[in-house]
Amino acid sequence: MLHGRKILVGVTGGIAAYKAAEIVSRLGKLGAEVHVAMTKGATEFIAPLTLRTLSANPVSVEMFEEPKRWNVEHIALAEHVDAVLVAPATANILAKMAVGIADDFLSTVLLAAKVPIFVAPAMNHAMYHHPATQKNLEILRSRSVKIIGPAAGFQACGTNGDGRMSEPVEVVEELVRFFTDSAMLQGKKVLVTAGGTQEPLDPVRYLGNRSSGRMGYAIAQAFREAGAETTLVSAPTELPVPYGVKRISVMTALEMHDAVLEEFPQMDVVVKAAAVADYRPKENATQKIKKQGTSLWVELVPNPDILAELGKMKTKQILVGFAAETENLINNAQDKMRRKNVDMLVANDVTRQGSGFGSLTNSVSLLFPDGRRIDLPQMNKLEVARYLRNEIAGLLGVTKE
Ligand code: PMT
Repeated sequence: MLHGRKILVGVTGGIAAYKAAEIVSRLGKLGAEVHVAMTKGATEFIAPLTLRTLSANPVSVEMFEEPKRWNVEHIALAEHVDAVLVAPATANILAKMAVGIADDFLSTVLLAAKVPIFVAPAMNHAMYHHPATQKNLEILRSRSVKIIGPAAGFQACGTNGDGRMSEPVEVVEELVRFFTDSAMLQGKKVLVTAGGTQEPLDPVRYLGNRSSGRMGYAIAQAFREAGAETTLVSAPTELPVPYGVKRISVMTALEMHDAVLEEFPQMDVVVKAAAVADYRPKENATQKIKKQGTSLWVELVPNPDILAELGKMKTKQILVGFAAETENLINNAQDKMRRKNVDMLVANDVTRQGSGFGSLTNSVSLLFPDGRRIDLPQMNKLEVARYLRNEIAGLLGVTKE
């Protein structure tokens, strides 16, 4: 299942380091070419010889040891492999990764690596729940680092709680799933819109909405993970661009309209998760509007409905829309699905706690023109995005093995 895949396993200094032996062995048995880099701390828990024997490759520990080939060793390794897995990942390596510290071989490879990175955290539960560790994990997640586990249970320090490294079989399964998924949509072109458009009133003010862009960015990440060539047309947000995704930045609905229509003909899938202003101020004042002490009347004119236009133009494309609703969720969403001629509509009740604008989680229902309906439980936005992606892959006639 991992034949031809090159994986670097980074091992850091925690009691779970002994489990790295099983991970390396399992990856090798599945056909992967396995390389190992250890921190000095890890060598206190498990001998490099064990991992060298199981991986059938030299194990790197020292930054300045005699190079095995004539190239800069850590850069060469970062460029050679298809993925890096850090297991176990201590609180220390997670913190270094979050801020970009490169003070030994493993952390330097991690900073140089442009390939997907997985970490399997393993630490005492108090360290795991410390706000610093949680913040570091959030930073890593936002950079598309895949976090495996941790599990809960008895810990080496004698306590119970979460922070135990996931079992080797689960860690390896995560990699297998990733590589299976990563081939699923190869060759497909996907466009995702995200964020809330801003409609200028004058040089300092605009009409906007509460979209953070998280849902759209998560969808772009999910498609990229599945190997699709992914483009994000994004209204202003603070979010980093997911790894491997091309971003086209826009501000207004009209700019989004032009960017989307230009890209549309070559796309296989378009997902419109952006919150687009239905109206814009008729005038965009060239100078800041002064306070006058009386009511201010602003005339609004309609923006084009991008999704509806795409619904009329589509040929081969799978078109997916969202409906952000505050009442009559399913009826309103079904109405939008018909009017805009989409292949799937994601109904989003934005009044629910932990759902819709700005939140880390979302709860949505998927509606299809044939009357099918799937109600998803509340999940984090990346999980929702992966679910949507798999449904859309099904509409394209692509299914997971
Ligand atoms: O960004 P987050 O903070 O993560 O929040 C996510 C979200 C709530 C913004 C997202 O999940 C969502 O529901 N997006 C759609 C918001 C919206 O504009 O819904 P709507 O019901 O007004 O529009 C219906 C569909 O038509 C949407 O796909 C929209 O992109 C599209 N549209 C709307 C107006 C317009 N002029 N052009 C459009 O293309």
